[in-house]
Amino acid sequence: MLSGRGCHQVTDLIKLETLGIGLNPGDELCSLESIEDGSAREFSYRSGSDFYDIFIQRKGNNIFAYMNMCPHAGTPLNMEEGVFMERTGTYLMCHTHGALFQLEDGLCVAGPCNGEYLQAIDIKVVEGQIIVA
Ligand code: FES
Repeated sequence: MLSGRGCHQVTDLIKLETLGIGLNPGDELCSLESIEDGSAREFSYRSGSDFYDIFIQRKGNNIFAYMNMCPHAGTPLNMEEGVFMERTGTYLMCHTHGALFQLEDGLCVAGPCNGEYLQAIDIKVVEGQIIVA
């Protein structure tokens, strides 16, 4: 069975429908197969003067979606398109100051924002399609 969240419980998932970007539950974002295993796909949305950048990281048949904004200084995590994991493929990494985040729940486990979380986004996989939950 495909899972969108691994085994950790995340309690404060952002609902995309609340951002005013025209996405509603059931809307399709992309197919699972369109994201290479170990890579991420980025999406950018705008609502008035607000911009929202999100990314969906794939690891095997699991996906993890977060706002692309580091809790330390608010910068995007990545510098290269689709590259959010550190070298070993274990943690998400902010390339600005090197903070490491658990993939499953976005908890920073090393770096200047240790103990803070990435903002997780509520999505799921249904029949091979990644959709808004
Ligand atoms: S902005 Fe991400 S670690 Fe500083």
